Amino acid sequence: MTERLQREKQYHNTAFSEGVRKSADKYYAVHKISFEALAALLEKYGTRKNVLEYGCGPGSHSFILAQYANTVTSVDISDYAINNACRLAQEMGLNNLKFIEMDAENLSFESESFDLIYGNAILHHLNLEKAFCEIDRVLKKGGKAFFYEPLGHNVFINIYRKLTPRMRTVDEHPLTTRDIDFVKAFFKISTVKYYHLTTIFAVPFRNFRCYNGLLKLLDKTDRFIFGLMPCIRKYAWYCVIEISKPAGE
Ligand SMILES: C[S@@+](CC[C@H](N)C(=O)[O-])C[C@H]1O[C@@H](n2cnc3c(N)ncnc32)[C@H](O)[C@@H]1O
Repeated sequence: MTERLQREKQYHNTAFSEGVRKSADKYYAVHKISFEALAALLEKYGTRKNVLEYGCGPGSHSFILAQYANTVTSVDISDYAINNACRLAQEMGLNNLKFIEMDAENLSFESESFDLIYGNAILHHLNLEKAFCEIDRVLKKGGKAFFYEPLGHNVFINIYRKLTPRMRTVDEHPLTTRDIDFVKAFFKISTVKYYHLTTIFAVPFRNFRCYNGLLKLLDKTDRFIFGLMPCIRKYAWYCVIEISKPAGE
C-alpha cells in the first residue's frame, strides 16, 4: 500500500472512531435538498440492479440502496468503517448488502460487474485517472455512475477548510474545473449539476420551521444564478456528476 493510501486509511479510521467531523453536521444539513435529487436518481437507476457503493465509509447510502437494489456491494479502505458497517448490516438482517475493505483505485471485481456505481465524497480522495479506469472497467455497458463531490473554488469555503485541518486528510483535493474537464474527457457521456451556493445561508435557520421552505427558495436562487451566469457554478460547494456508459461500447 502506498504512503498516500496508508494516510487515508489511518486518518479515516481515527476520524470515524472519534467522530471528528460531527462539528460540521450543521453545514451538511443543507445537503438535504441535493440528496433528495440524488436519491431519486439512485432509485430510478438502481432498482433491482447490482450496485457498487464506492468509498462507502461506515455505510453512507448503502443501507438505503439495499432497500430497492438487487445487490449492493460497498467498498472502502477504512477497516474500522467496514467492520462497523458489516456489523450493522448483519444486525439488520440485510443479506443483499456486503461491505468489503478494498482500495477504490485497484478493485478486485471482474470487469462489467455493476449496473450502477455511486460514490459520496470519494473521488476527491483518489488519484482520478486510476479511479476512472477502475470505474469504467467494472461498470457494465449501458450502466450509470453518480458521484456527489465537493468543489474547490469557493474562497470562503476554502478558508473554512484551512481553519479546520483536523477535519480533512492532507491528500484530499476538492474538485476543480480542471478535474471536471478531465471527467468529461474521460467519460464522453457525462453531466455535472452544481449545488449549494446561496443555500449555505440557510444553515443558521436549520432548527426553524421555515427551514425546508427557505432551503427550496435558496436552491431555486442557485438554479437561477447558475442558469444566468454559468461561470459562477464552480463556486458552488458540491456537484453531482452523472456518467453514462454507452450500451454498445
Ligand atoms: C469523506 S469520506 C466519505 C465516506 C462516505 N462515502 C460517506 O459519505 O459517509 C471519504 C471516504 O473515502 C475513503 N477512501 C479514501 N481513499 C480510499 C481508497 N483509496 N479506496 C477506498 N476508499 C478510500 C475513506 O476511508 C472514507 O471513508
